[in-house]
Amino acid sequence: MPSLSFSKIFLVFSVVSVTVISNAEFVDDVCKKLGNEQFCLAVLKSDSRSKFAKDITTLTTIAVDVASKNTTATRDYFLSVKTGPPAVLTSLKDCIDSYNVVIADFRNCLKEQDCSLAGYDIHDAGDEVKRCQAITDSNGAHDSFITTSNSVTLDFCGLGESLVSLMCDKRGA
Ligand SMILES: *[C@@H]1O[C@H](CO)[C@@H](O)[C@H](O)[C@H]1NC(C)=O
Repeated sequence: MPSLSFSKIFLVFSVVSVTVISNAEFVDDVCKKLGNEQFCLAVLKSDSRSKFAKDITTLTTIAVDVASKNTTATRDYFLSVKTGPPAVLTSLKDCIDSYNVVIADFRNCLKEQDCSLAGYDIHDAGDEVKRCQAITDSNGAHDSFITTSNSVTLDFCGLGESLVSLMCDKRGA
């Protein structure tokens, strides 16, 4: 009998390790399909839940969650800036409004009943970032941290849109 329970334990252990290995490959496979593979890997691997993800919906949820936290931290940083060139301070006023919409879009997109509306929300987030950038450029503050932040946020929008579109295809929506 002891040898039987040992083999049972061994069997369970093998199944668990094979599952973990194949899930790590799942993240790699999904990111390989997307435009910005390195950013996709960096974002998904920054969250330990990705290791156990078995489907696109879980990975999309993780990416949107990381995006939501990152854009909230960016907005909070924008709010904290009180001194600097007038062009930057003026741009920040509009950009904070844009980022409030971006944050709401990321928080709401996966609550939509209709899968295609999730893509629409993220697309809207991207438009808001572009609006902030256009204002920043027209104020002459292109060479500021706002442009750097917007470029990261646009990468999150691109990743979110690609994952949502994969997710919606899988559901046949
Ligand atoms: C947002 O994510 C980017 C890319 O991972 C990172 O470089 C940046 O520091 C993050 N920003 C904030 C405010 O957390």
